Amino acid sequence: MRPAIRPGSRLVLPAVASALAGALCCASSSSGPVHAPGDLVFPDGFQWGVAMSAFQTEGHVENDWTDWAAAGKAPLLGDACDSWNRWPEDVQLAADLGVKVFRMSVEWARIEPQEGAFDEAAIAHYRDVLTAVRKAGMEPLVTLHHFTNPRWVAAAGGWADPRIVESFKAYAAFVGQRLGDLVDQWNPQNESVVYITGLSLVNTFPGGQIFDLDLLHRMFRHTVFANAAAVDALRASDTKDADGDGKPVVAWLVHATSPTYPADPENPDDVTAAANWDYLYNLAFVNALVKGELDLDFDRKIDPTIDISGLHEGIFDELKGRVDLLGINYYARNFVMASPGLIPNVDALPCVNGMCGDLGPVAGDNGNEVYPPGLYRALKEFAPFGLPLTVSENGVADAADTLRPAFLVQHLAQVHRAIAEGIDVRGYLHWSLLDNYEWASGYTMKFGLVAVDFATQARTPRPSFALYRDIAAANAVPKTALDQWTLDGIVAAPGD
Ligand code: FCB
Repeated sequence: MRPAIRPGSRLVLPAVASALAGALCCASSSSGPVHAPGDLVFPDGFQWGVAMSAFQTEGHVENDWTDWAAAGKAPLLGDACDSWNRWPEDVQLAADLGVKVFRMSVEWARIEPQEGAFDEAAIAHYRDVLTAVRKAGMEPLVTLHHFTNPRWVAAAGGWADPRIVESFKAYAAFVGQRLGDLVDQWNPQNESVVYITGLSLVNTFPGGQIFDLDLLHRMFRHTVFANAAAVDALRASDTKDADGDGKPVVAWLVHATSPTYPADPENPDDVTAAANWDYLYNLAFVNALVKGELDLDFDRKIDPTIDISGLHEGIFDELKGRVDLLGINYYARNFVMASPGLIPNVDALPCVNGMCGDLGPVAGDNGNEVYPPGLYRALKEFAPFGLPLTVSENGVADAADTLRPAFLVQHLAQVHRAIAEGIDVRGYLHWSLLDNYEWASGYTMKFGLVAVDFATQARTPRPSFALYRDIAAANAVPKTALDQWTLDGIVAAPGD
């Protein structure tokens, strides 16, 4: 879910690709595939996967988003991919793809439809799915909250209310206890900052407001504490090591990263605004859960004495160290212009809907730019946190599948570039296995390696399915693919 953001001028990527080719070449293990010179070989054990969410695929659910859609604020959900019933086919498709990580979410509204009343049938369903995923040789990564809430959570004020900390913790404890023997990889919440800013600044989620700073502060504070509490709950309730590596819980922070650029690099105010927005959007939330630093007014100082919407900053032991692995979701960059006073200390506004003029070519069906070096820059930006990284979402809306092959190959080249520089990137999960319900865009945006006909529910792999399957099997992007799938004339000049 991403606003249309338009980048600068054109570029040719093959030069980058050929400079990289060979950096990690020809390092195949004795039993592994044989690689040719110029292939981009990934480290042994690199985790290839796909990412999905419950709400976008399952269908047949009622929660705060379905109420919002019923009120005319978003397309109706309907059956989605009917994955609640057709999940065996979906698990088989992922197995056929040959990936080893199956990112999914569980739907809170199904598991706890009323506060404190947990639905054992829903848990039994997810146990069946997870058992099949493991049997197919894949490791599940389970997200507990992917943008949607049970109605009772929304009625209680959602994530702007402090009670969310306890309610999310109780839900996490229950799920950890019931599913822990099948799951080690846990992500409490998908893209928390997208959710916080979407609700408080741009009204893209149920209950949303436009530039409500009080809401921004409250949501930021409670969401940080709720995520930390959920990690504690999972660590306490899931003591079962499903994969035998000695770690029953690996806590992922799945973060929407959007490398930030000034709308006008010659304008010092835009340059400052870009740095400030980068801090708010990319860094502040991670600082809180990794270092315990809660900076509510985004001034890069922790001052516990000041009152911010009735809340206080601080360095908190109960936040620190709640991340084992940073998941990097990357789709596009953010261009930012100065906007004094809009958000105090930040004074910035991301350029959406052409408001910074023509910033250059766009390519995805949703009007996104396609800029692979932004993924490299995101990985580089988060490496200093000292945690292992995995690309937990990356993909493109492309019904015709004419752009996706080059998108995939050239983004992987940038992941390889980061690894070659010593950045600890453990895996790549493509968004998404299937076309699905893409929030405000409904069924119009097709992110799937597999096309879904929503009238018949027929699943048909697109050509890029085979390309990704071959890359995962080879643990490498072949030079032939790099040469074939370029983005010449489609993407902006690199600069990174
Ligand atoms: C991400 C969301 C995911 C999907 C993709 C396209 O921001 O996590 O649900 O909408 O964008």
